[in-house]
Amino acid sequence: MSLDTPAAKPHERLAETLATDLTEVNALIRARMASEHAPRIPEVTAHLVEAGGKRLRPMLTLAAARMCGYDGPYHVHLAATVEFIHTATLLHDDVVDESAQRRGRPTANLLWDNKSSVLVGDYLFARSFQLMTETGNMRVLRILSDAAATIAEGEVLQLTAAQNLATTEAIYLQVVRGKTAALFSAATEVGGVIAGVDETHVRSLFDYGDALGVAFQIVDDLLDYQGDAKATGKNVGDDFRERKLTLPVIKAVALADADERAFWKRTIEKGDQRDGDLEQALALLEAHGTLEATRQDALEWATRAKAAMASLPPHPLRDTLIELSDYVVARIN
Ligand code: IPE
Ligand code: IPE
Ligand code: MG
Ligand code: MG
Repeated sequence: MSLDTPAAKPHERLAETLATDLTEVNALIRARMASEHAPRIPEVTAHLVEAGGKRLRPMLTLAAARMCGYDGPYHVHLAATVEFIHTATLLHDDVVDESAQRRGRPTANLLWDNKSSVLVGDYLFARSFQLMTETGNMRVLRILSDAAATIAEGEVLQLTAAQNLATTEAIYLQVVRGKTAALFSAATEVGGVIAGVDETHVRSLFDYGDALGVAFQIVDDLLDYQGDAKATGKNVGDDFRERKLTLPVIKAVALADADERAFWKRTIEKGDQRDGDLEQALALLEAHGTLEATRQDALEWATRAKAAMASLPPHPLRDTLIELSDYVVARIN
């Protein structure tokens, strides 16, 4: 991209605006993801980190700190911490979900094994705690360690809700708030806290991250049915295969007639899945308009995120973050 054409997408524009900070974050990530004592660690972490990833969460921390006027060094540690927590959860998540593709590459559990993914994930979690203690700020330590616990709770709640056709939209929201939104909201909140802004601003930053995270995960769940593996870097149909009750399915089950209910019982509850079932599931979601209804829900959460961000004082980064909320929903097209 040339310097005089503005980047089209808000997350690219964020990356441009925050380029200097982001370079420091990436350098810190590289420095801390290695281990002199166990060569398997840098092999696995390099595989995942070099594949890229959008760096959305660390950019949220950097942007929040910068728009709040922060000019110290610790937003970089916090951003790297957030990306380490994210990467650790991805390693674990791909084991739990038995996923084969991540960031356009084969998953670590496929290339190495589940044991390596679990243990290197643990290592990254521990590294994230080391990194955040370097800030010496008790409050950000609490926010980020709370988020790590909440993510794990969300993943476990999802595990017990899977295969259960009685799963409600309220339970789904609880799962999503935990496994995804908790890290988004912690990412934005610690940016404000490290900058020392007043409590109403910290609250708005939290609310923005929370709503953005929910919108982001709802869209991720849509992309699991509608997405293009080339664009998402992940396989389509993982959620159906894993018998997960995501929002489009919860809405379709609620509208099912007797035959359709029997289909969901067989495929999701009993796990008896045959060739053509994913296509059939997709046809039911289309027939009941639940993909579109799910998209509307994501748009509502994006609107909430925008409102929270708009309540903060004017700043160019604030405007980019407002546009980012539209983009997380628009990425579906
Ligand atoms: C993937 O997050 C996990 C979800 C919460 C859906 P991202 O889509 O932000 O993953 P990367 O870091 O860009 O690969
Ligand atoms: C991702 O959940 C959330 C966490 C990593 C905690 P998913 O399982 O829905 O995300 P993808 O689709 O594998 O990225
Ligand atoms: Mg997964
Ligand atoms: Mg998962």
